[in-house]
Amino acid sequence: MTSTADTTLSPILERCPVIPVIAIDELSDAVPLAQALVDGGLTVLEITLRTRVALDAMKAVIDQVPQAVVGVGTVLTSDQFDAAERAGARFAVSPGATERLLDATAGRGVSLLPGAATASEVMVLRERGFRLLKFFPAEPSGGARFLGSLAPVIPDVRFCPTGGITPGNAGDYLKLPNVVCVGGSWMVPRDRIAARDWAGIRDLAATAAALERPPR
Ligand code: 3PG
Repeated sequence: MTSTADTTLSPILERCPVIPVIAIDELSDAVPLAQALVDGGLTVLEITLRTRVALDAMKAVIDQVPQAVVGVGTVLTSDQFDAAERAGARFAVSPGATERLLDATAGRGVSLLPGAATASEVMVLRERGFRLLKFFPAEPSGGARFLGSLAPVIPDVRFCPTGGITPGNAGDYLKLPNVVCVGGSWMVPRDRIAARDWAGIRDLAATAAALERPPR
């Protein structure tokens, strides 16, 4: 069974090899930051709900950077999901999954990418129809070696690993048959955002966008 969420999410996650996981402290940084990432070739952006201005930042990017496909990250509750949907998020990412969140978000227009870090968590979400999951936190949970071990036994679930991904290890994940893309914050370091170093962020994004993802 392929869920509606997967048919909506697949083309989004397949668009770029890397999804920037973004925390925005200053609202005025949102649009130039998103534009720098898009200019570098990363057009799918995850704006996390870890800062006070996150929802307003998302709205500003959706309004002013039309090339970006904007999702919301760090969704822990259905109230947060609802607020992100109202703000115009195209997808929602959660570090894990709870029954309550899954029930509240089932069949909604915004697709949820829930997190899993064990074979059992993957199986539970698979039973609920999910075929695309976040693997989080990727490096502390066993990294590419662990995720690759799931491919032969649960071959119909694909992942976006995040958590500890770097330019040095991203390639190890991207070559796995069960990885659709990776997520990470290395191209949006807080010090560069604070310095408004948009050219530097654009260059980091361009290097990330050039990472090889073997054709499937
Ligand atoms: C996430 O929310 O996916 C992670 O915090 C991103 O992890 P990173 O900062 O280690 O890239």
